[in-house]
Amino acid sequence: MTTTNTADTASTNGAAQVDVAALALRGVTSGYDHTTILRDVDLVVPAGSVTALLGPNGAGKSTLLKTVSGLIRPTSGTVEIGGQDVTKLPTFRRSQLGLCHVPEGRGIFRSLTVRENLEQQAAAGHEAEAVERAAEVFPILGERLEQRAGLLSGGQQQMLAMARAYTTNPKLILVDEASLGLAPIVVDAIFQFLQDIASKGTALLIVDQFAARALAMASSVYVLNRGEMVFSGTSAELLDGDLFARYLGGE
Ligand SMILES: Nc1ncnc2c1ncn2[C@@H]1O[C@H](COP(=O)(O)OP(=O)(O)OP(=O)(O)O)[C@@H](O)[C@H]1O
Ligand SMILES: [Mg+2]
Repeated sequence: MTTTNTADTASTNGAAQVDVAALALRGVTSGYDHTTILRDVDLVVPAGSVTALLGPNGAGKSTLLKTVSGLIRPTSGTVEIGGQDVTKLPTFRRSQLGLCHVPEGRGIFRSLTVRENLEQQAAAGHEAEAVERAAEVFPILGERLEQRAGLLSGGQQQMLAMARAYTTNPKLILVDEASLGLAPIVVDAIFQFLQDIASKGTALLIVDQFAARALAMASSVYVLNRGEMVFSGTSAELLDGDLFARYLGGE
């Protein structure tokens, strides 16, 4: 009797006290066809927090995000979203669990209009609401609803990609190089937007070449080099050591 009670209490307390991570990769090895890119990678994004993933070109950052969203499958290791093992689940099941991936190159449909892009991403029956919410956060999109997405400026396309993520109410957003090729003022707007949704409790995993901006927002940081995780810690710890200069060019 006593033993059973103790065990029950322990498991109940465990569930109540330990916040389930938004994302956890454990021992993940993955890549393309016969090329292994990521080797034995561990990474945790605590619920509702911002994590930065940095590393030089070709380190495997985008590969890691694709492994999380299910575009590629690991050859070993596990991926958990909100405490659930999703390693074998297809991409759409991961989306249903609250995951949204804003890929490098933005992942919008260039031949569709802004409105169609927003509607296409929205849950059935919530199309109008998605369009309304997007126009609220990025008014410029509201003015361009009938324009083809491919004719938007680079910055506007990135706003559309962000808006598509936002309107699905995700629990975790993977953001790959959101600021690539954009003017500083647009980058400011994008990061302000990310800051706003993070402060409302959405967890973010941000890959960005502007390490300083990602670091300023993130409570934890990982550095990937040649497919291996070479650092995990706080921004301050990263900036303290010589790792930043060694892997990230001393930006
Ligand atoms: N579809 C693919 N097929 C085969 N190899 C690929 C593919 N995509 C990427 N790679 C290789 O995987 C490695 C890691 O690429 P990845 O795009 O993950 O790097 P990254 O850290 O995102 O780089 P960047 O900062 O330039 O975006 C590179 O050597 C790249 O050539
Ligand atoms: Mg990349």
